[in-house]
Amino acid sequence: MIQTLTITRPDDWHLHLRDGAMLEGILPETARDFGRAIVMPNLVPPVVTAKDAAAYRARIMAAMPAGAGFVPLMTLYLTETTDAEDVAAAHASGLITAVKLYPAGATTNSDSGVANFDRVQGVLERMAEIGLPLCVHGEVTDPSVDIFDREAVFIDRVLDPLRRRVPELRVVMEHITTADGVAYVMAHDERLGATITTHHLIINRNDLLVGGIKPHYYCLPIAKREEHRVALVAAATSGDKRFFLGTDSAPHTDPNKESACGCAGVFSATNTMSCLAHVFENASALDKLEGFTSLHGPAFYGLAPNTDKITLTKHADAQAFPDKIKTGAGDVTVFNPGFPLHWTTTPPTFRS
Ligand code: NCD
Ligand code: ZN
Repeated sequence: MIQTLTITRPDDWHLHLRDGAMLEGILPETARDFGRAIVMPNLVPPVVTAKDAAAYRARIMAAMPAGAGFVPLMTLYLTETTDAEDVAAAHASGLITAVKLYPAGATTNSDSGVANFDRVQGVLERMAEIGLPLCVHGEVTDPSVDIFDREAVFIDRVLDPLRRRVPELRVVMEHITTADGVAYVMAHDERLGATITTHHLIINRNDLLVGGIKPHYYCLPIAKREEHRVALVAAATSGDKRFFLGTDSAPHTDPNKESACGCAGVFSATNTMSCLAHVFENASALDKLEGFTSLHGPAFYGLAPNTDKITLTKHADAQAFPDKIKTGAGDVTVFNPGFPLHWTTTPPTFRS
């Protein structure tokens, strides 16, 4: 029996689009299913000023496949020298939707991130005044903290003090990976939201490490124990409006992943909606999928949901998806959930 589910077109509240040939190669993968995405600013060099963001948006629009109605929502990369006036003007003109905080050295291309939080206090206060959200990569970079504990320690050492110092600031804890992250969000009000990735709903650290290291499952924050994955699935499928989809789809070429020092990042743009339909169906929560992918995110950001729809169809047979996306920068391996995918999205075309 064919089962279908029609939902408001989803958005991706955390996405890496890169630049140049990589951007051109992978943009269609997101533009096919998604209406909008929060575009991460961790280019080399990063997107720091309004001028940088305007130029990057123009490059994304130039790479847009014909007929795609996809809208990139731009962000600025917060540094210790970010100018509050530049941020406020970029927000007022509609150019940016959020500012991104990377602790210095936390992940791919985060060398320009914040080490001394006193230096960004003024910008954060201004953002709170104008209602501009801060997206936070929630991991400490202290080398003495174990990589599997970095999110939980970040909550205590950085996030909670930061939110106390600027209580009106709207904050997104991005790509949460732990039961600690879920509990922290649930203990606070609607000024705090959290994104959850597709892959963290599916893989745990055994999938990454047991039976041979799987470079295409390596990302930051790193996948945690099974009990944490279970807590993430419970949060995503709960219907709680504070949790919404941010795929963190982050393409790297195969040689850069399959290396003695492989890059962090999972590329899931291509099959995210199929994977999520599977996860939500398994949790008997298909009725909660639309909230997670299409409604909670816009509500947090004060935006209207997309007006058009996509239809998900469940097929009796497993549906093939490409192993790799070929780009001018090199091949990018698509996230393999490790189970057959029976759901597809239709129409698998760009909206007009
Ligand atoms: C991201 C990337 O490759 O840009 N990698 C990742 O593992 N998630 C950076 C990030 O968002 O942390
Ligand atoms: Zn990311």
